[in-house]
Amino acid sequence: MKALTTNTYAFDQWIRHRFVELNDELEVLYFQQSDKANVAGIGQDIKLALENEGRALIKSLLLEGNTDQGFDAAFDLLGNVGLYMAACRRHEITEPSRETHSPLTEASALAMHIGASIGVTPRFATAHLTSHNSAINGTYKRFTSLADEKLFVDYNTRGILAYKRAADALLKIQPLGISHPISHDLLIVCQQALQQVIDSNAILFERLDSERFFNCVRPYYKPYRVGSQVFRGANAGDFAGINVIDLQLGLCVANDPSYSQLLVDKFLYMMPEDQTLLRDCMRRESLMNDFLNAREHSQQAWYQANLREFLTACELHGATAIQHHEQLVSKYITAPSKQLGQQHLDTVTASGPPLEVLLASLEKLKDKRAASPRRDIATRFDDIEALKASLLI
Ligand code: HEM
Repeated sequence: MKALTTNTYAFDQWIRHRFVELNDELEVLYFQQSDKANVAGIGQDIKLALENEGRALIKSLLLEGNTDQGFDAAFDLLGNVGLYMAACRRHEITEPSRETHSPLTEASALAMHIGASIGVTPRFATAHLTSHNSAINGTYKRFTSLADEKLFVDYNTRGILAYKRAADALLKIQPLGISHPISHDLLIVCQQALQQVIDSNAILFERLDSERFFNCVRPYYKPYRVGSQVFRGANAGDFAGINVIDLQLGLCVANDPSYSQLLVDKFLYMMPEDQTLLRDCMRRESLMNDFLNAREHSQQAWYQANLREFLTACELHGATAIQHHEQLVSKYITAPSKQLGQQHLDTVTASGPPLEVLLASLEKLKDKRAASPRRDIATRFDDIEALKASLLI
Protein backbone atom coordinates (compact mmCIF):
# COMPACT_ATOMS: atom_id res chain seq x y z
CA MET A 1 0.00 0.00 0.00
CA LYS A 2 1.28 3.54 -0.81
CA ALA A 3 1.95 5.92 2.13
CA LEU A 4 -1.24 7.49 3.47
CA THR A 5 -1.85 11.19 2.77
CA THR A 6 -1.68 13.45 5.84
CA ASN A 7 -5.46 13.82 5.89
CA THR A 8 -6.08 10.07 5.58
CA TYR A 9 -3.60 9.39 8.37
CA ALA A 10 -5.15 12.02 10.66
CA PHE A 11 -8.62 10.53 10.16
CA ASP A 12 -7.36 7.00 10.71
CA GLN A 13 -5.69 8.06 13.96
CA TRP A 14 -8.89 9.78 15.09
CA ILE A 15 -10.93 6.63 14.33
CA ARG A 16 -8.48 4.44 16.21
CA HIS A 17 -8.31 6.59 19.36
CA ARG A 18 -10.56 9.60 20.01
CA PHE A 19 -13.58 8.06 18.23
CA VAL A 20 -13.35 4.97 20.45
CA GLU A 21 -13.11 7.13 23.59
CA LEU A 22 -16.23 9.10 22.63
CA ASN A 23 -18.22 5.96 21.86
CA ASP A 24 -17.05 4.42 25.15
CA GLU A 25 -18.23 7.46 27.10
CA LEU A 26 -21.65 7.30 25.49
CA GLU A 27 -21.97 3.55 26.06
CA VAL A 28 -21.33 4.07 29.79
CA LEU A 29 -24.14 6.65 29.96
CA TYR A 30 -26.65 4.50 28.03
CA PHE A 31 -25.86 1.32 29.93
CA GLN A 32 -26.44 2.83 33.37
CA GLN A 33 -30.09 3.65 32.52
CA SER A 34 -32.94 1.31 33.40
CA ASP A 35 -33.98 1.50 29.71
CA LYS A 36 -30.57 0.67 28.25
CA ALA A 37 -31.88 0.99 24.69
CA ASN A 38 -32.61 4.69 25.13
CA VAL A 39 -30.14 7.12 23.57
CA ALA A 40 -32.39 10.19 23.23
CA GLY A 41 -31.19 13.24 25.19
CA ILE A 42 -28.14 11.45 26.62
CA GLY A 43 -24.57 12.80 26.35
CA GLN A 44 -25.43 15.63 23.96
CA ASP A 45 -22.02 17.32 24.28
CA ILE A 46 -20.20 14.05 23.52
CA LYS A 47 -22.42 13.42 20.49
CA LEU A 48 -21.75 16.91 19.23
CA ALA A 49 -17.98 16.44 19.61
CA LEU A 50 -18.17 13.13 17.72
CA GLU A 51 -20.18 14.63 14.87
CA ASN A 52 -18.11 17.83 14.53
CA GLU A 53 -14.65 16.37 14.91
CA GLY A 54 -15.40 13.66 12.35
CA ARG A 55 -16.99 16.15 9.97
CA ALA A 56 -13.93 18.46 10.06
CA LEU A 57 -11.55 15.62 9.23
CA ILE A 58 -13.81 14.33 6.45
CA LYS A 59 -14.15 17.82 4.94
CA SER A 60 -10.39 17.95 4.39
CA LEU A 61 -10.46 14.52 2.78
CA LEU A 62 -13.29 15.53 0.48
CA LEU A 63 -11.40 18.65 -0.63
CA GLU A 64 -8.29 16.58 -1.25
CA GLY A 65 -10.23 14.55 -3.84
CA ASN A 66 -9.08 11.30 -5.40
CA THR A 67 -5.39 10.84 -4.57
CA ASP A 68 -5.26 7.46 -6.32
CA GLN A 69 -3.66 5.57 -3.47
CA GLY A 70 -4.89 2.25 -4.86
CA PHE A 71 -7.73 -0.10 -3.95
CA ASP A 72 -6.56 -1.04 -0.45
CA ALA A 73 -6.23 2.56 0.72
CA ALA A 74 -9.57 3.54 -0.82
CA PHE A 75 -11.35 0.57 0.75
CA ASP A 76 -9.79 1.33 4.11
CA LEU A 77 -10.79 4.99 3.98
CA LEU A 78 -14.35 3.99 3.03
CA GLY A 79 -14.35 1.79 6.14
CA ASN A 80 -13.30 4.70 8.34
CA VAL A 81 -16.00 6.98 6.92
CA GLY A 82 -18.45 4.11 7.38
CA LEU A 83 -17.51 3.58 11.02
CA TYR A 84 -18.12 7.28 11.65
CA MET A 85 -21.51 7.21 9.88
CA ALA A 86 -22.55 4.00 11.67
CA ALA A 87 -21.65 5.52 15.05
CA CYS A 88 -23.67 8.64 14.21
CA ARG A 89 -26.59 6.33 13.43
CA ARG A 90 -26.08 4.36 16.65
CA HIS A 91 -26.19 7.57 18.72
CA GLU A 92 -29.16 8.84 16.69
CA ILE A 93 -27.23 11.86 15.47
CA THR A 94 -28.76 10.59 12.22
CA GLU A 95 -31.89 8.45 11.95
CA PRO A 96 -33.00 7.21 8.52
CA SER A 97 -36.73 7.26 9.25
CA ARG A 98 -36.48 10.88 10.46
CA GLU A 99 -34.62 12.16 7.38
CA THR A 100 -34.81 11.94 3.60
CA HIS A 101 -31.10 12.62 3.12
CA SER A 102 -28.23 11.96 5.46
CA PRO A 103 -27.32 15.16 7.28
CA LEU A 104 -23.71 13.97 7.07
CA THR A 105 -23.33 15.51 3.62
CA GLU A 106 -19.52 15.48 3.41
CA ALA A 107 -19.26 11.91 4.70
CA SER A 108 -21.97 10.80 2.25
CA ALA A 109 -20.21 12.48 -0.66
CA LEU A 110 -16.89 10.89 0.21
CA ALA A 111 -18.43 7.44 0.79
CA MET A 112 -20.35 7.56 -2.52
CA HIS A 113 -17.28 8.73 -4.42
CA ILE A 114 -15.15 5.90 -3.05
CA GLY A 115 -17.84 3.17 -3.12
CA ALA A 116 -18.79 3.83 -6.73
CA SER A 117 -15.17 4.07 -7.85
CA ILE A 118 -14.13 0.70 -6.38
CA GLY A 119 -17.39 -1.21 -6.97
CA VAL A 120 -18.69 -1.73 -3.43
CA THR A 121 -21.56 -0.39 -1.36
CA PRO A 122 -20.82 3.14 0.00
CA ARG A 123 -21.15 2.07 3.65
CA PHE A 124 -18.91 0.13 6.01
CA ALA A 125 -19.16 -3.59 5.37
CA THR A 126 -18.23 -6.62 7.46
CA ALA A 127 -14.85 -6.94 5.74
CA HIS A 128 -13.85 -3.53 7.12
CA LEU A 129 -14.13 -4.83 10.65
CA THR A 130 -13.08 -8.44 10.13
CA SER A 131 -10.97 -9.80 7.26
CA HIS A 132 -9.62 -6.40 6.12
CA ASN A 133 -9.08 -4.60 9.40
CA SER A 134 -5.39 -3.97 9.99
CA ALA A 135 -4.08 -3.99 13.54
CA ILE A 136 -1.55 -1.44 14.71
CA ASN A 137 0.53 -2.58 17.64
CA GLY A 138 -1.96 -5.38 18.37
CA THR A 139 -5.16 -3.36 18.16
CA TYR A 140 -7.47 -3.36 15.15
CA LYS A 141 -10.23 -0.83 14.45
CA ARG A 142 -13.33 -1.06 16.59
CA PHE A 143 -16.19 1.18 17.69
CA THR A 144 -15.55 0.81 21.40
CA SER A 145 -12.99 -0.74 23.70
CA LEU A 146 -15.61 -3.06 25.21
CA ALA A 147 -14.37 -6.63 25.68
CA ASP A 148 -17.61 -8.01 24.23
CA GLU A 149 -17.17 -6.09 20.99
CA LYS A 150 -13.66 -7.50 20.59
CA LEU A 151 -14.91 -11.01 21.34
CA PHE A 152 -17.68 -10.66 18.77
CA VAL A 153 -15.37 -9.34 16.03
CA ASP A 154 -12.61 -11.88 16.81
CA TYR A 155 -15.03 -14.80 16.48
CA ASN A 156 -16.78 -13.36 13.44
CA THR A 157 -13.37 -13.12 11.78
CA ARG A 158 -12.48 -16.68 12.79
CA GLY A 159 -15.83 -17.99 11.52
CA ILE A 160 -15.54 -16.11 8.22
CA LEU A 161 -11.98 -17.30 7.59
CA ALA A 162 -12.91 -20.91 8.40
CA TYR A 163 -15.88 -20.76 5.99
CA LYS A 164 -13.51 -19.36 3.36
CA ARG A 165 -11.15 -22.32 3.86
CA ALA A 166 -14.05 -24.74 3.39
CA ALA A 167 -15.15 -22.90 0.22
CA ASP A 168 -11.63 -22.90 -1.15
CA ALA A 169 -11.32 -26.67 -0.74
CA LEU A 170 -14.63 -27.24 -2.55
CA LEU A 171 -13.64 -24.97 -5.45
CA LYS A 172 -10.48 -27.02 -5.94
CA ILE A 173 -12.63 -30.10 -6.60
CA GLN A 174 -14.20 -28.48 -9.69
CA PRO A 175 -11.29 -29.06 -12.11
CA LEU A 176 -10.53 -32.50 -10.62
CA GLY A 177 -14.01 -33.99 -10.67
CA ILE A 178 -15.81 -36.05 -8.02
CA SER A 179 -14.07 -39.33 -8.90
CA HIS A 180 -10.55 -37.95 -8.42
CA PRO A 181 -8.71 -39.47 -5.43
CA ILE A 182 -7.59 -36.01 -4.26
CA SER A 183 -11.21 -34.82 -4.17
CA HIS A 184 -11.54 -37.18 -1.21
CA ASP A 185 -8.77 -35.25 0.60
CA LEU A 186 -10.38 -31.93 -0.31
CA LEU A 187 -13.74 -33.01 1.10
CA ILE A 188 -11.99 -33.85 4.35
CA VAL A 189 -10.28 -30.42 4.37
CA CYS A 190 -13.74 -28.88 3.86
CA GLN A 191 -15.14 -30.90 6.79
CA GLN A 192 -12.28 -29.82 9.06
CA ALA A 193 -12.87 -26.16 8.22
CA LEU A 194 -16.61 -26.47 8.86
CA GLN A 195 -15.87 -28.14 12.19
CA GLN A 196 -13.68 -25.11 13.00
CA VAL A 197 -16.68 -22.84 12.28
CA ILE A 198 -18.70 -24.92 14.74
CA ASP A 199 -15.98 -24.85 17.41
CA SER A 200 -15.43 -21.11 17.03
CA ASN A 201 -19.17 -20.33 17.18
CA ALA A 202 -19.49 -22.54 20.27
CA ILE A 203 -16.89 -20.41 22.10
CA LEU A 204 -18.66 -17.22 21.03
CA PHE A 205 -21.96 -18.62 22.31
CA GLU A 206 -20.41 -19.54 25.63
CA ARG A 207 -18.50 -16.30 26.25
CA LEU A 208 -20.43 -13.40 24.70
CA ASP A 209 -22.64 -11.53 27.16
CA SER A 210 -26.07 -11.12 25.55
CA GLU A 211 -27.04 -7.91 27.35
CA ARG A 212 -23.78 -6.20 26.36
CA PHE A 213 -23.96 -7.46 22.81
CA PHE A 214 -27.56 -6.46 22.30
CA ASN A 215 -27.26 -3.01 23.85
CA CYS A 216 -23.70 -1.91 23.10
CA VAL A 217 -22.42 -3.86 20.07
CA ARG A 218 -25.28 -4.70 17.72
CA PRO A 219 -26.60 -1.08 17.50
CA TYR A 220 -23.49 -0.08 15.50
CA TYR A 221 -24.63 -2.49 12.74
CA LYS A 222 -27.93 -0.77 11.97
CA PRO A 223 -28.93 0.47 8.50
CA TYR A 224 -28.08 4.09 7.75
CA ARG A 225 -28.51 6.60 4.98
CA VAL A 226 -25.70 7.58 2.62
CA GLY A 227 -26.94 10.51 0.58
CA SER A 228 -30.61 9.76 -0.03
CA GLN A 229 -30.47 5.97 0.11
CA VAL A 230 -30.71 3.70 3.15
CA PHE A 231 -28.14 0.90 3.13
CA ARG A 232 -28.80 -2.19 5.21
CA GLY A 233 -26.52 -3.09 8.09
CA ALA A 234 -23.42 -5.23 7.88
CA ASN A 235 -23.60 -8.89 8.90
CA ALA A 236 -21.06 -11.70 9.15
CA GLY A 237 -22.53 -13.29 6.03
CA ASP A 238 -21.23 -10.62 3.66
CA PHE A 239 -18.52 -12.69 2.03
CA ALA A 240 -18.76 -15.14 -0.88
CA GLY A 241 -17.48 -18.25 0.92
CA ILE A 242 -20.74 -19.16 2.66
CA ASN A 243 -22.64 -19.11 -0.65
CA VAL A 244 -19.83 -20.87 -2.50
CA ILE A 245 -20.29 -23.73 -0.01
CA ASP A 246 -24.11 -23.66 -0.43
CA LEU A 247 -23.83 -23.75 -4.23
CA GLN A 248 -20.90 -26.13 -4.59
CA LEU A 249 -22.43 -28.66 -2.21
CA GLY A 250 -25.75 -28.06 -3.98
CA LEU A 251 -27.77 -27.49 -0.79
CA CYS A 252 -28.92 -24.14 -2.21
CA VAL A 253 -29.39 -23.41 -5.90
CA ALA A 254 -28.97 -20.12 -7.73
CA ASN A 255 -32.25 -20.40 -9.66
CA ASP A 256 -34.33 -20.66 -6.48
CA PRO A 257 -35.92 -17.17 -6.37
CA SER A 258 -35.60 -16.62 -2.61
CA TYR A 259 -31.96 -17.69 -2.62
CA SER A 260 -31.00 -15.71 -5.73
CA GLN A 261 -32.67 -12.63 -4.20
CA LEU A 262 -30.32 -13.00 -1.24
CA LEU A 263 -27.32 -13.24 -3.58
CA VAL A 264 -28.37 -10.21 -5.63
CA ASP A 265 -28.87 -8.17 -2.46
CA LYS A 266 -25.45 -8.95 -1.03
CA PHE A 267 -23.17 -8.53 -4.06
CA LEU A 268 -22.06 -4.96 -3.38
CA TYR A 269 -21.53 -5.69 0.32
CA MET A 270 -18.69 -8.03 -0.61
CA MET A 271 -15.13 -7.32 -1.67
CA PRO A 272 -14.78 -7.17 -5.49
CA GLU A 273 -12.78 -10.42 -5.55
CA ASP A 274 -15.59 -12.14 -3.64
CA GLN A 275 -18.13 -10.77 -6.14
CA THR A 276 -16.17 -12.36 -9.00
CA LEU A 277 -15.84 -15.65 -7.12
CA LEU A 278 -19.55 -15.85 -6.43
CA ARG A 279 -20.52 -14.95 -10.01
CA ASP A 280 -18.27 -17.68 -11.30
CA CYS A 281 -19.71 -20.17 -8.83
CA MET A 282 -23.30 -19.36 -9.82
CA ARG A 283 -22.51 -20.67 -13.31
CA ARG A 284 -21.13 -24.03 -12.19
CA GLU A 285 -22.74 -27.43 -11.59
CA SER A 286 -22.94 -28.58 -7.96
CA LEU A 287 -21.14 -31.60 -6.51
CA MET A 288 -24.52 -32.96 -5.40
CA ASN A 289 -25.78 -33.04 -8.98
CA ASP A 290 -22.50 -34.60 -10.10
CA PHE A 291 -22.98 -37.42 -7.56
CA LEU A 292 -26.64 -37.88 -8.51
CA ASN A 293 -25.63 -38.16 -12.18
CA ALA A 294 -22.89 -40.68 -11.32
CA ARG A 295 -25.09 -43.24 -9.56
CA GLU A 296 -24.42 -45.78 -12.32
CA HIS A 297 -20.92 -46.01 -10.77
CA SER A 298 -22.24 -46.55 -7.27
CA GLN A 299 -20.47 -49.91 -6.97
CA GLN A 300 -17.08 -48.28 -7.54
CA ALA A 301 -14.74 -47.73 -4.62
CA TRP A 302 -14.19 -44.04 -5.51
CA TYR A 303 -17.94 -43.39 -5.51
CA GLN A 304 -18.45 -44.97 -2.12
CA ALA A 305 -15.45 -43.26 -0.53
CA ASN A 306 -16.01 -39.78 -1.97
CA LEU A 307 -19.78 -39.77 -1.55
CA ARG A 308 -19.42 -40.67 2.10
CA GLU A 309 -17.15 -37.65 2.67
CA PHE A 310 -19.43 -35.42 0.58
CA LEU A 311 -22.45 -36.35 2.72
CA THR A 312 -20.48 -35.66 5.91
CA ALA A 313 -19.51 -32.21 4.53
CA CYS A 314 -23.20 -31.50 3.82
CA GLU A 315 -24.14 -32.56 7.32
CA LEU A 316 -21.51 -30.28 8.86
CA HIS A 317 -22.61 -27.32 6.76
CA GLY A 318 -26.18 -27.91 7.97
CA ALA A 319 -24.87 -28.11 11.55
CA THR A 320 -23.21 -24.66 11.26
CA ALA A 321 -26.50 -23.19 10.05
CA ILE A 322 -28.51 -24.84 12.83
CA GLN A 323 -26.00 -23.58 15.39
CA HIS A 324 -26.14 -20.02 13.99
CA HIS A 325 -29.93 -19.99 14.10
CA GLU A 326 -30.73 -21.93 17.26
CA GLN A 327 -27.87 -20.62 19.37
CA LEU A 328 -26.46 -17.28 18.14
CA VAL A 329 -29.58 -15.69 16.62
CA SER A 330 -31.85 -17.07 19.31
CA LYS A 331 -29.72 -16.05 22.33
CA TYR A 332 -28.43 -12.71 21.05
CA ILE A 333 -31.31 -11.36 18.93
CA THR A 334 -34.61 -13.16 19.48
CA ALA A 335 -34.52 -13.49 23.27
CA PRO A 336 -33.37 -9.93 24.12
CA SER A 337 -35.81 -8.48 21.54
CA LYS A 338 -38.67 -9.92 23.57
CA GLN A 339 -37.66 -7.72 26.48
CA LEU A 340 -37.42 -4.57 24.37
CA GLY A 341 -40.03 -1.81 24.49
CA GLN A 342 -42.09 -1.46 21.29
CA GLN A 343 -40.56 1.98 20.62
CA HIS A 344 -37.14 0.38 20.05
CA LEU A 345 -38.24 -2.83 18.29
CA ASP A 346 -38.27 -1.50 14.74
CA THR A 347 -34.53 -1.09 14.64
CA VAL A 348 -33.38 -4.45 15.96
CA THR A 349 -32.09 -6.15 12.82
CA ALA A 350 -29.15 -5.18 10.66
CA SER A 351 -31.03 -5.66 7.40
CA GLY A 352 -34.05 -3.63 8.34
CA PRO A 353 -37.08 -5.96 7.92
CA PRO A 354 -39.24 -6.64 10.98
CA LEU A 355 -37.75 -9.27 13.27
CA GLU A 356 -40.30 -11.99 12.52
CA VAL A 357 -39.73 -11.58 8.74
CA LEU A 358 -35.98 -11.78 9.20
CA LEU A 359 -36.26 -14.84 11.46
CA ALA A 360 -38.51 -16.66 8.98
CA SER A 361 -36.06 -16.05 6.15
CA LEU A 362 -33.08 -17.16 8.27
CA GLU A 363 -35.03 -20.29 9.21
CA LYS A 364 -35.63 -21.14 5.55
CA LEU A 365 -31.96 -20.70 4.82
CA LYS A 366 -31.09 -22.98 7.75
CA ASP A 367 -33.51 -25.66 6.50
CA LYS A 368 -32.06 -25.51 2.99
CA ARG A 369 -28.53 -25.84 4.35
CA ALA A 370 -29.59 -28.71 6.60
CA ALA A 371 -31.60 -30.34 3.75
CA SER A 372 -34.54 -30.60 6.14
CA PRO A 373 -37.80 -32.16 4.97
CA ARG A 374 -40.01 -29.12 4.20
CA ARG A 375 -42.87 -29.20 1.75
CA ASP A 376 -43.42 -25.43 1.57
CA ILE A 377 -39.95 -24.59 0.25
CA ALA A 378 -37.44 -26.42 -1.95
CA THR A 379 -34.75 -28.31 -0.02
CA ARG A 380 -32.48 -31.16 -1.15
CA PHE A 381 -33.90 -33.61 1.42
CA ASP A 382 -35.03 -36.16 -1.19
CA ASP A 383 -31.76 -35.98 -3.13
CA ILE A 384 -29.67 -36.43 0.00
CA GLU A 385 -31.84 -39.46 0.92
CA ALA A 386 -31.34 -40.89 -2.59
CA LEU A 387 -27.58 -40.46 -2.29
CA LYS A 388 -27.53 -42.03 1.18
CA ALA A 389 -29.46 -44.99 -0.24
CA SER A 390 -26.69 -45.54 -2.80
CA LEU A 391 -24.10 -46.12 -0.06
CA LEU A 392 -23.37 -49.81 0.34
CA ILE A 393 -23.03 -49.82 4.14
C1 HEM B 1 -26.60 -13.23 9.13
C2 HEM B 1 -27.03 -12.88 13.90
C3 HEM B 1 -22.48 -14.44 14.37
C4 HEM B 1 -22.62 -15.92 9.80
C5 HEM B 1 -27.08 -12.93 10.37
C6 HEM B 1 -28.32 -12.28 10.65
C7 HEM B 1 -28.46 -12.21 11.99
C8 HEM B 1 -27.29 -12.78 12.57
C9 HEM B 1 -29.64 -11.63 12.76
C10 HEM B 1 -29.31 -11.77 9.61
C11 HEM B 1 -28.84 -10.47 9.08
C12 HEM B 1 -29.46 -9.27 9.73
O1 HEM B 1 -29.34 -9.02 10.93
O2 HEM B 1 -30.12 -8.55 9.04
C13 HEM B 1 -25.81 -13.26 14.43
C14 HEM B 1 -25.47 -13.16 15.82
C15 HEM B 1 -24.18 -13.59 15.97
C16 HEM B 1 -23.73 -13.97 14.64
C17 HEM B 1 -26.41 -12.66 16.89
C18 HEM B 1 -23.33 -13.69 17.18
C19 HEM B 1 -23.58 -13.11 18.31
C20 HEM B 1 -22.12 -15.01 13.17
C21 HEM B 1 -20.88 -15.69 12.93
C22 HEM B 1 -20.92 -16.14 11.65
C23 HEM B 1 -22.19 -15.71 11.07
C24 HEM B 1 -19.74 -15.87 13.93
C25 HEM B 1 -19.85 -16.93 10.97
C26 HEM B 1 -19.21 -16.50 9.96
C27 HEM B 1 -23.71 -15.31 9.23
C28 HEM B 1 -24.09 -15.44 7.85
C29 HEM B 1 -25.21 -14.62 7.65
C30 HEM B 1 -25.53 -14.05 8.91
C31 HEM B 1 -23.38 -16.32 6.82
C32 HEM B 1 -25.94 -14.27 6.33
C33 HEM B 1 -27.14 -15.04 6.15
C34 HEM B 1 -26.75 -16.42 5.77
O3 HEM B 1 -26.22 -16.61 4.67
O4 HEM B 1 -26.96 -17.30 6.63
N1 HEM B 1 -26.47 -13.23 11.57
N2 HEM B 1 -24.74 -13.76 13.75
N3 HEM B 1 -22.89 -15.03 12.04
N4 HEM B 1 -24.61 -14.47 9.85
FE1 HEM B 1 -24.70 -14.17 11.79
